[in-house]
Amino acid sequence: VPVPMSISASDLSDLPLIRIERADDPRLADYVGLTDMQLRTRTEPELGLFIAEGEKVIARALRAGHPMRSMLLSDKWLDLMAPLIASSGAPAYVGSPDVLEQVTGFHVHRGALAAMERLPLPDPATLLGVARRVVVLETVNNHTNIGAIFRSAAALGMDAVLLAPDCADPLYRRAVRVSMGTVFAVPYARLGADPDRPWPHALELLAELGYRRMALTPAPDALDLRELRPEPQEKIALLLGSEGDGLSPRALAACDLRVRIPMAAGVDSLNVAAAAAIACYALTA
Ligand SMILES: C[S@@+](CC[C@H](N)C(=O)[O-])C[C@H]1O[C@@H](n2cnc3c(N)ncnc32)[C@H](O)[C@@H]1O
Repeated sequence: VPVPMSISASDLSDLPLIRIERADDPRLADYVGLTDMQLRTRTEPELGLFIAEGEKVIARALRAGHPMRSMLLSDKWLDLMAPLIASSGAPAYVGSPDVLEQVTGFHVHRGALAAMERLPLPDPATLLGVARRVVVLETVNNHTNIGAIFRSAAALGMDAVLLAPDCADPLYRRAVRVSMGTVFAVPYARLGADPDRPWPHALELLAELGYRRMALTPAPDALDLRELRPEPQEKIALLLGSEGDGLSPRALAACDLRVRIPMAAGVDSLNVAAAAAIACYALTA
């Protein structure tokens, strides 16, 4: 979707702007209770929407082809957001910062929120068929970690992210924000949705498609990451697990190799997003 860089002040009058005065305006239903994670995780996937926050992230979502349902912003941000409103063709609800805060539950300091449509996720086999380097996550249920992992995956040239069924939603508002919109750049799919291949049997698909499955674990008997010599054309899947217990024994057993990032004495492990960044970087060497 082409997004113009700027728009002249005279064109502002052509934009589909709707002034809102009341927080209970039913047209703002998409934005209600944004700080209530339980409510949002329950309703967002079902409703097929997600919330993007701030000019850069909204622009990236539009460029990735996500249709915009509407935007919510205060007057101060109108000039900056005008090109995005114009290119989306969606209505923009304009209100005072107080009304915005009453609707969303927080002070909207990134200028604007946009309710965007989700796109269908690709089939894992199709995605793995065209990728070469992928990150696979199990029980990564923290949105900040999901966002940070997508950012590293994008920055370090990974082709895709595969998520076990118990991973958090990459399009949850905080994950989108932490990822700086890279959740729109790195394709991702859910593993384990096929009833014939529940998680972790879904990992067999990676082997069938020629991937070497590397489990990232701090276990002392795993291979030192610095000794890994990946072939440039080799298909590699990096598996990472939860902040608490790490990868499950069944996921570990399904992998071809266990790899560790050596830790200084007295420290048992890294945060999963930090470990993902280091492991992705090692594959670029
Ligand atoms: C906080 S760690 C989990 C620690 C857990 N006690 C374990 O033994 O795996 C979260 C994830 O980050 C990755 N990780 C953290 N530190 C690592 C290290 N030193 N080497 C390899 N992977 C690491 C692993 O994938 C792990 O599942």
